[in-house]
Amino acid sequence: MCGITACVGSERTVPTLLTGLDNLEYRGYDSAGIAIQNGDGLSVFKQEGKVSDLAERVRRRDPTATTGIGHTRWSTHGPPTDGNAHPHTDCTGEIAIVHNGIIENYAQLRSMLKARGHELTSATDTEVVPHLVEERLDQGATTFEAFKDTVDQLEGSYALAMVAEGGDTVYATRDGSPLVLGVGEEANFLASDVPAFLEFTGNVVYLENGDTVVMDADGYEISHRDGASIERPVREVDWTAEDAEKGGFDHYMLKEITEQPTALRQTIRGRIDPDRGSVELETFPDGSFADVERVQFIACGTSYHAALYAVQILSNRGVPADAFLASEYTAGVPPTDEDTLVVGVTQSGETADTLNALEMARERGLETVAVTNVIGSTAARTCDESLFIRAGPEIGVAATKTFSSQIVTLCCLAERIATDSTDHCPSETFVQAIEELPGMIESVIDRSTAEPAAIAYSDSDSYFFVGRNEARPVALEGALKLKEISYEHAEGFAAGELKHGPLALVTESTPVFAIATGSNEERMVSTTEEIRARDGPVISVAPADSEIAALADHNLAVPETHPDLAGVLANVQLQLFAYHTASLLDRAIDKPRNLAKSVTVE
Ligand code: AGP
Repeated sequence: MCGITACVGSERTVPTLLTGLDNLEYRGYDSAGIAIQNGDGLSVFKQEGKVSDLAERVRRRDPTATTGIGHTRWSTHGPPTDGNAHPHTDCTGEIAIVHNGIIENYAQLRSMLKARGHELTSATDTEVVPHLVEERLDQGATTFEAFKDTVDQLEGSYALAMVAEGGDTVYATRDGSPLVLGVGEEANFLASDVPAFLEFTGNVVYLENGDTVVMDADGYEISHRDGASIERPVREVDWTAEDAEKGGFDHYMLKEITEQPTALRQTIRGRIDPDRGSVELETFPDGSFADVERVQFIACGTSYHAALYAVQILSNRGVPADAFLASEYTAGVPPTDEDTLVVGVTQSGETADTLNALEMARERGLETVAVTNVIGSTAARTCDESLFIRAGPEIGVAATKTFSSQIVTLCCLAERIATDSTDHCPSETFVQAIEELPGMIESVIDRSTAEPAAIAYSDSDSYFFVGRNEARPVALEGALKLKEISYEHAEGFAAGELKHGPLALVTESTPVFAIATGSNEERMVSTTEEIRARDGPVISVAPADSEIAALADHNLAVPETHPDLAGVLANVQLQLFAYHTASLLDRAIDKPRNLAKSVTVE
């Protein structure tokens, strides 16, 4: 996820663009840039780091302009460097482009452009765009035609904005990535999201996929793919900039829970082929893991739960695997040999305990892979290879969408490792279930009864979560989520362990969440009966027509899916339960007390 912005007509275009980028920084924050048109040609300022770093540099130069575009980046192709920051320009420096999204056919376009003598200097997918525009301009097209023809060649998802030297016009389009037009009195604006320009105008036009906009100080024109002009309604927004950043949700956490279908579509894009039942990972061609005998995962907190889940998925495929809490890994060195693959799972890529453990693995000569959300993070730079979970930035301290994206990325990695290193045959049903997962999460969110369940059990003494196999890490995660944002006591156990101790704590005011994932239902029914016999209320997380749902006091329904993936659906229900419980208790949901998003100290 990146943020783009544009402004035409204001004497204060430069500060307006910088304010817009500042308000969009929640969409990405590893590099930023602007391109402005000031009568002397096009000037580009861009660099790695925060918008505030860019703003400081721009202010020192104090440029003026009435037309410009801006970008704040969340890397998807190429690390966060000055060169990879947007805007990107063509060979002549007369065309500048900002982009949010992924251009899937960029490799092919890049080779074609290089063969024709273009010099592409960044590692991004975006840079092909200004060069394609340059080609069409050289062939005699108008700037609008060149922009349109270029967009026709792109595959993937994008919102693009372009300025060309010598004109006070911004050209923009969207397909699959958001773009909103702001209609001002003397100036007009474009951005990925309303907060970018909300302090200048509250009159907005929400653009649709396939719309192209030509905008100058006097107005704008929208046309569709076939070239026909379109009128889109101008709406007035009455939110504050902060409300708008949260997309109308009360908290980032709830916004991020509902973003999971989108995040997962990004996670799997280009990585699975449901027809062949195969998984293709960009950094790991077929056979990459042929020599792997054992996998060790290292992680903390929620990421550790994702790692435990991956252990189960690998075990189901006959690959020996273990998950270690990073803080424990360094204390008691587990046995390894040269065929052990070490996988660090870390959303931020900056968790000190995980980085230390990865460093230790490297010192022992082991091959390391970082599974992370942040390109350019320390974990990504430290490990031999990286696999990005592509969840987009997560602002809430409680990890939600990154957990789901971690699990699905790890499922793809597990399938690849098992296919390469054992006689495991790629499973069509598994890969098809991965493809269907985002839609299933949508239906879980839409139909969830987690809020009434949270109300019904809000004055409980403690909350327990139990599950077997891949449902065990989900039970641990359900308890962690509830305790970190509601401050209520919650614990997760392997369901089979209940009778070895925790059952002593079960009373009528300790609800127990029984998580069934299809592979373990019969035994979860007996666990449920054990709890009910002690008067413990049972909240099952299971398909609506299952035996366990019929026995439970309340069921949080999940659709039937491949047992290896059912835990992801169950977890979404538990995220919603935690959220609604914390909300009833009026907790600081996005910034719970004593906790930080990224723990960079040991
Ligand atoms: C979970 O909600 C927490 N934010 C926390 O447990 C987190 O998962 C842990 O600190 C590890 O962070 P990382 O994934 O960035 O390494």
